[in-house]
Amino acid sequence: MTRLEGTRVLVTGGAGFIGSHLVDALLQQGPADVVVVDDLATGSRENLAGALRDPRVRLVERDARDLDVMDDLLGATDVVFHLACLGVRHSLHDPRENHEVNATMTLELLESARRAGIRRFVHVSSSEVYGSAQYAPMDEGHPTFPETVYGAAKLAGEAYARAAFRTHGFPVSVVRPFNAYGLRSHFEGDSGEVLPRTIVRVLAGEPPLIYGDGEQSRDFTHVTDTARGIIAVAESDDAIGRTLNVGSGADVTINDLARIVLSVAGATGLSPIHLEPRPGDVRRLLADSTAMRRLTGFSPRVAFADGVRELFEGMRDGGLPPEAMLAQVEERNWVQEGVPRA
Ligand SMILES: NC(=O)c1ccc[n+]([C@@H]2O[C@H](COP(=O)([O-])OP(=O)(O)OC[C@H]3O[C@@H](n4cnc5c(N)ncnc54)[C@H](O)[C@@H]3O)[C@@H](O)[C@H]2O)c1
Repeated sequence: MTRLEGTRVLVTGGAGFIGSHLVDALLQQGPADVVVVDDLATGSRENLAGALRDPRVRLVERDARDLDVMDDLLGATDVVFHLACLGVRHSLHDPRENHEVNATMTLELLESARRAGIRRFVHVSSSEVYGSAQYAPMDEGHPTFPETVYGAAKLAGEAYARAAFRTHGFPVSVVRPFNAYGLRSHFEGDSGEVLPRTIVRVLAGEPPLIYGDGEQSRDFTHVTDTARGIIAVAESDDAIGRTLNVGSGADVTINDLARIVLSVAGATGLSPIHLEPRPGDVRRLLADSTAMRRLTGFSPRVAFADGVRELFEGMRDGGLPPEAMLAQVEERNWVQEGVPRA
């Protein structure tokens, strides 16, 4: 029996990339039900296609800023996983709305959940709150100097979560995932992430595009590991009031990433093209997950090269022709259409 067995769970943003994998993993923990609140801004019903076959899962297609809806739902919830967010590139072209969803909405939900007597609130923040690494690997005591409004708004959200714990003893945990990747990751529009975008280009016979010198690096964590980490936090009483990194502990540069994709694809004849750096692109992110391991026993399982192969094959065989995927990729997806770059 796990701690989540028989509980009523609510996942905001559960139709998104990480959220949908979290819902899949939660179902293995024996909850009584799982309510997903998602306005499908960047998520999709398709991400939950498997999970929705389970009668315990319900998708409520609503904006989580609608507090009347949330008050009703939270009245019948034991455990909240809060993932709903708008992403880093969105924050570059629409900082105000990004703040509204990532910071203000988090504050409102914490208040609403506290009034409803929720037993556990897991706030999913982001490694982007750190800014570029001042030392690596980065533990949770690393200074927080976010470089984007997204990172700043995520930091505000997690500060509100910690305040709810410190002021009222509300049982909150904050999780800081490092870059998640895997099946259902976004390649399209302003949600497009570097790995799936690179795979789309290579599948279409195009060379990878690298913004900057490619020596910027990330701690790429397989999304099933991220989901397991988030659940491990919810199940640990020692994690109440804590802020914990969830990462793989491996440093991968964008140049490495391009090389691995080209090698998995057998397309070693293609050479990456380097372009100007993206504004606000942090230089290095690498997790120290010692605290997480000590408190919850969590350790990542999926090696990067294996995860890249799985994603490459999933996208190749997913039914969408590479050209159709490429047409949905927005290069320079941090710029709002029609608005000139600063
Ligand atoms: N993907 C990563 O590498 C990564 C890394 C660190 C942290 N995170 C965090 O993990 C969480 C999930 O990210 P993701 O990568 O799955 O992104 P995603 O865009 O796939 O998921 C976010 C979900 O929130 C939904 N949403 C947005 N605004 C909403 C609103 N107002 N009401 C209801 N639903 C709304 C979207 O439709 C989407 O389904 C976020 O909080 C993000 O900050 C992600």
